[in-house]
Amino acid sequence: MLNHLPNLKQFLSEYHFMEIIHVSAECYPVAKVGGLGDVVGALPKYQNKLGHFAKVVMPAYQTKFLAENQFETVYDGWAKVGSTNYQARILREKTNKLGFDVFLVHIAGLFDRDGVYGYADDTERFLAFQIATLDWIAQWEHRPDVVHVHDHHAGLIPFMMSNCHQYAHISQVPTVLTIHNAQYQGQFGWDKLHYFPSFDLVNTNKLDWASAINPLAAAIKCAWRITTVSPSYLDEISYAANGLERLLSQERGKSIGVLNGIDTEVWNPQKDKMIAKSYNVRTLESGKKANKEELCRVFNLDASKPLYTFIGRLVGEKGADLLPDIFYNALAQSNGEINILVLGSGDTHVEDRLNAITHQYPGSYNAFIGYNEALSHQIYAGADFLLMPSRVEPCGLNQMYALRYGTIPIVRRIGGLKDTVVDIGDGGFGICHDQSSVWDVGHAIGRAYELYQDQKKVKEIRKLMMSIDHSWDNSAQQYLSIYQM
Ligand code: ADP
Ligand code: GLC
Repeated sequence: MLNHLPNLKQFLSEYHFMEIIHVSAECYPVAKVGGLGDVVGALPKYQNKLGHFAKVVMPAYQTKFLAENQFETVYDGWAKVGSTNYQARILREKTNKLGFDVFLVHIAGLFDRDGVYGYADDTERFLAFQIATLDWIAQWEHRPDVVHVHDHHAGLIPFMMSNCHQYAHISQVPTVLTIHNAQYQGQFGWDKLHYFPSFDLVNTNKLDWASAINPLAAAIKCAWRITTVSPSYLDEISYAANGLERLLSQERGKSIGVLNGIDTEVWNPQKDKMIAKSYNVRTLESGKKANKEELCRVFNLDASKPLYTFIGRLVGEKGADLLPDIFYNALAQSNGEINILVLGSGDTHVEDRLNAITHQYPGSYNAFIGYNEALSHQIYAGADFLLMPSRVEPCGLNQMYALRYGTIPIVRRIGGLKDTVVDIGDGGFGICHDQSSVWDVGHAIGRAYELYQDQKKVKEIRKLMMSIDHSWDNSAQQYLSIYQM
C-alpha cells in the first residue's frame, strides 16, 4: 500500500491544474505592435491545451476587437494613482474565442485611445493598469498559482505584490517576469514616487536603477523567476542590456532562457486565409510560386527573379537604418536581376529613404510603409528570402514564420536568430552573417543569389524548413516547469 504513495504524489504534482495570470500590454488579436502580442496571444492557449487555466489581463485600447466582441464586466472600481482616482472597469470577453479568457482593463481617460504606446502619459497609463489589475486580483476569494508579467509595462507588479501593504495577502503568489526586450525599461522620475500604493520606504531601493524609478529593473529584482525569450539572449544581456547588465548578471541565478514558439494554427500555410494560395510541404513549390506571382503582380515586381523581403519595425534594433544603403548596393550590383519588397513602419527618416528607392528602381523594388497583418502573411508565403539584419534580437518570430512558410531566412547571428537559424554552410537552411553592417548583409544577399541559381537545392531547403517544429508545445511545457520550481 505504502508503495503507492510516491506515485500518488507524482500524480498530484503532475495533475495540479494551475491558474496562470499573464499581464501584458499586447495580445494578438486584441492589440499587437510586435512579437510581444504574438507570444501573449499564443502561450496561454497552449498552456490551456495542457490542461491549465491561463488568462490574459491587458489594457482595453479602442481596438477593433473591443468594438466587435461581447464583454461582461467582472470588476468595477477605482485605480488610485497618487492623488488621481481613475474609474477602472475590467471586461471579460464572453466566448473564450481565443482559447483563453482575456480581461480588458478599461480606464477612463487613459486607454480609450486607438494606440498602444507612445503617449506622454504612458507612465500614468501603465501604472493605473497595473494597480487596477492588482486591486481586482486582491479581492478574489482564491489566489492564482502564478502571476506572469511581460516586459516593463507590467514590471511594477512583482514589486507592488511583495511590498505594497494593500496587496500583503497576495504577496506569496509567485511572480515570473519574461523579458522580451531589455532595451525598453519604462523609466520615470522620483517625483512620481507618490503614485504607488503605500509601502515601507526602506524598500524604495527596489525601484531604483541609475537614479530613476525603473519598472524593468524593479521586476528583475522582485520577480521570483526571470525568463528571456531565447537562451542566447540570456547570455547576451549580461554584457548588452541598455544599462541593466550588472543587475542581470547579479540575478542570473533565478533566470532561464526559454525560446519562444509560434502559434502554428494562426501561422499555417495550409489553412491561412490571408494568403493567395494555401499549400503544405507536398504542394509547396506550386503554392509558393502562386503566392510569389500574386505578390509581384500587386507590387509591380518580376516573379522570375529572386524576391528578397524585410518585415518589421523600422528602428535601429532591427538594423533598419542600414536597409536603404544595403538595397541601393544590391540593386546596383545585380543589374536588375533581383526584387526587393519591404513592409514596415517606424523612424520617418528611414521610411522616407525606403520610399525614395521605389522611384529609382520601379519594377525591381517596392515598399509598403505601414502596418498590415494580412500583407505580412502574404510576404512570408510569397518571398524567397527574408532579411533580418538585427542589432538586437531577443528572439525574433519573423524567421520562424519564414521557416514555416518555406522562405529562407538571412539573419545576423544574434539572440534568438542564432538559436533558430543554421547556415547552409553548416548543413542548415539559412544564411547567417556576423555583423549588422551594410557589407555583411550585402555579402549574405550575394550568397543567397548564388543559392537561388541552384533551384534543386532551394527545393530541398524549403522542404527541410517546413518540417521544423517551432510550435509552442515544448516551450509552454517549459514555462509550467518554471512555475513549479
Ligand atoms: P519585434 O517584436 O521586436 O517587433 P518579432 O520578430 O518578435 O519582432 O515580431 C514581429 C511581429 O510583428 C511579427 O508577427 C511580424 O510579422 C509583425 N510585424 C512587424 N512589422 C509589421 C508590419 N509593418 N506589418 C505587419 N506585421 C508586422
Ligand atoms: C520583442 C523582441 C523580439 C521578440 C518579441 C517576442 O519584441 O524584440 O525579438 O521576438 O519580443 O518575445
